[in-house]
Amino acid sequence: MKLPELKIGKLLPRFPIIQGGMSISVSTACLAAAVARAGGIGVIGATAISLDELKAEIRKARKLAGSGIIGVNIMYAARQFTELVETAINEGIDVIFTGAGFSRDIFLRGRASDTPIVPIVSSARAAILAEKSGAAAVVAEGAEAGGHLGTDRSIKEILPEIKRAVKIPVVAAGGIVDGRDMAEMVKLGADGVQMATRFVLSEECKVAYEYKQMYLQAREEDVIIIKSPVGLPGRALKNAFTELIQSGEVPEPEECNACLKNCSRDYCIYKALVNARNGKVDEGVVFTGQNVFKIKEILPVAVIFDRLLAEFAAC
Ligand SMILES: Cc1cc2nc3c(=O)[nH]c(=O)nc-3n(C[C@H](O)[C@H](O)[C@H](O)COP(=O)(O)O)c2cc1C
Repeated sequence: MKLPELKIGKLLPRFPIIQGGMSISVSTACLAAAVARAGGIGVIGATAISLDELKAEIRKARKLAGSGIIGVNIMYAARQFTELVETAINEGIDVIFTGAGFSRDIFLRGRASDTPIVPIVSSARAAILAEKSGAAAVVAEGAEAGGHLGTDRSIKEILPEIKRAVKIPVVAAGGIVDGRDMAEMVKLGADGVQMATRFVLSEECKVAYEYKQMYLQAREEDVIIIKSPVGLPGRALKNAFTELIQSGEVPEPEECNACLKNCSRDYCIYKALVNARNGKVDEGVVFTGQNVFKIKEILPVAVIFDRLLAEFAAC
């Protein structure tokens, strides 16, 4: 089987592989640049970082990535959404991915600056709206994905529906961990794939040692769905903290910097994600994709790419 060409606006990565944006400093410049250098699209998770931090991350990624393609992922639910978009565009970012909803304004800004906008969608209806609004492509994200989820339906169900509904490129996301999964998505019509969990277990991903150990030790039954104060379900690894969430005993936030447009304030998801990222995994939320238990090694990004391509070619 041949790898599809993934054209997003004027961008044409060597391989149709996008590293999914992971906020709270899970996908930072080091990871994004390594993916870009390997021939994919590297994405900095930009939600809940300051505008100065975002600027610094983009500049660092550019320096490390050479001519590779660098994007940012900004959740619409973030209070600073517009300012983060503006900062990324002013820094000359190649592409913006937007999750957990999107506004029409971002497309106007994208058009004015010639920056492709790629919404993450979970239904044909949302994909059609994105295309009409001016999206350069969509990421179709199924229920197997990590982090906040927009659907309880499998990528295998929604991908063909979304592909039939729009003419723009459709990138499949959710549960893809190897070249066989990639081939399956391409057979179902994907123009490319987005993977996040596989890249957490890379040498270039700068999360704490304890975070990666939780991933490596995860069993299938440890991957659960939690309720997030964002108002969406989230896929995470079971631990002492998620048990508190599920029993309704999780402590309410002591302080709040109103990082989200809407928040139930049941607990502070920002603090929970920061704790986990920094190694206090039992006091936080470790987001992950459904198939984390299939990944058994931490590898350099370049080796992950070599294996993905070899496995794909063997299909
Ligand atoms: C730790 C983690 C954090 C994530 N953070 C974000 C985020 O900030 N914004 C977003 O749109 N998606 C986020 N995602 C979703 C990924 O970008 C990606 O689409 C999804 O996880 C793909 O499924 P996979 O992890 O099984 O490959 C996150 C996923 C993980 C695992």
